[in-house]
Amino acid sequence: MTHPLLDILVQQQHSCPFHTPGHQRGRGMAAPLRALWGTALAQDLSEIPGLDNLAAPTGALADLQAAIAAAAGSDRAWCLVNGATTGVLAALLATLEPKDVVLVGRNVHHSVISGLILTGAQPVYLGVAVDSLWGIPEPVSLATVVNAVAAYPTAKAVVLVSPTYEGLCSPLAAIAQHVHERGLTLIVDEAHGSHFAFHPRFPSTALAAGADLVIQSWHKTLGTLTQTAVLHLQGTRVAPERVSHAVTLVQTTSPSYWLLSALEAAAWQMVHQGYEIYDRLLQWVAAFESPLPRLERLDIPQDPLRLTLGTWPLGLTGADLEAQLQPDIIAELPSGRSLTFCVGLGTTAQMLRTLAERLWVIHQTYQPVQSLPPIAVPPLPAVSSPALSPRTTYFSQRQVVPLAAAIDHISAETIAPYPPGIPTIIAGEVITAAAVAELQQVQAMGGTIIGATDPQLNQITIVTPADT
Ligand SMILES: Cc1ncc(COP(=O)(O)O)c(C=O)c1O
Repeated sequence: MTHPLLDILVQQQHSCPFHTPGHQRGRGMAAPLRALWGTALAQDLSEIPGLDNLAAPTGALADLQAAIAAAAGSDRAWCLVNGATTGVLAALLATLEPKDVVLVGRNVHHSVISGLILTGAQPVYLGVAVDSLWGIPEPVSLATVVNAVAAYPTAKAVVLVSPTYEGLCSPLAAIAQHVHERGLTLIVDEAHGSHFAFHPRFPSTALAAGADLVIQSWHKTLGTLTQTAVLHLQGTRVAPERVSHAVTLVQTTSPSYWLLSALEAAAWQMVHQGYEIYDRLLQWVAAFESPLPRLERLDIPQDPLRLTLGTWPLGLTGADLEAQLQPDIIAELPSGRSLTFCVGLGTTAQMLRTLAERLWVIHQTYQPVQSLPPIAVPPLPAVSSPALSPRTTYFSQRQVVPLAAAIDHISAETIAPYPPGIPTIIAGEVITAAAVAELQQVQAMGGTIIGATDPQLNQITIVTPADT
């Protein structure tokens, strides 16, 4: 693989840029930013002659998308410059029609709910187990998918997130085989697993497992700029023209060529150096010695580069430990009982040594403190259908009522205890007394409630009854 787009960008020599963007090759940019970004501003270009057009690519961008598809193992790839969010929206718009039933993991990113609002599809939510020792959600299981497909035989598609934020993967090959035999399309949000194709010791990719549409947030784990992502298609269950149309619907008409060339460079790096880089990183991570337990679920495929360390033995939450490590060490994701670090392309052996040293010092300080008790996680329904679709809920009249008065009404907001962040109530679901009790229990235990307009949860927004 080569990097023709980067070469074309670097070769741009024109001295009279009568074109957008407004800073015109940096000259019109405010001085402080010009001082920071320097000559690179001359390459902040959009569609000018020779640079191809992302909406209808025929040159360097068509080649780039083909090279990315080949590197990742898909039949077709679409470059995205507004994150995996764009890919999730496009995947749902390409697959679903209003009122279609779709099986959706309850742990999905909120962009999936946005996609349901846009399509008008009717979700059935698939529950996930929560590991109470670690305080983190597990991926959707095969059994849950099998049960849901049996209970909702008219379902058209399944939408799963795999890997989870902590790097745990669903058994995608078995799920793909099961749902394909029953005529469903499998959409996998692989936002955190874009690197899986580039070393055999990573879990299988969603594409290798047989998924039809796969969304990868390249900026999360690969060497590219923030906002860059890729949508992949394989097989014939979804027409490529429909995907192209859907991408055009949600993507900007002025993609940044900085972002596109960053995707190209990241693909080039993976193809030529990925194996070697990951081999080194995997050795360092395997040798990492921490005084804290490390998440290693032998029963679930796991990304070895997501380093999740248990903080409960120190009597600390993940956020407590993170505060001790800052400002020089910044982790990715704190939970109530653990802290997750992303080991990635910029990680050095010295960084891992520094982290280990700091952890040993903190461990000595906190060792005598009592360990945190395991978290009590309210049971989530394995398979549940909301009263209203996200779209109907979105367009309904709403009102704010005291929490007690909200029971048996339809929620207009999605509310989750954090950790683990899996919604107890999703907008469109009926607010049950049990759900309210569970949320109040989390609050009483000092947990945080996210998503609610009133974070104290004294009030809640419901769909106005007359409107239902
Ligand atoms: C599982 C998952 N899917 C999708 C997204 C959206 O990705 P992006 O920020 O690239 O739009 C995220 C972002 O955190 C995510 O965690």
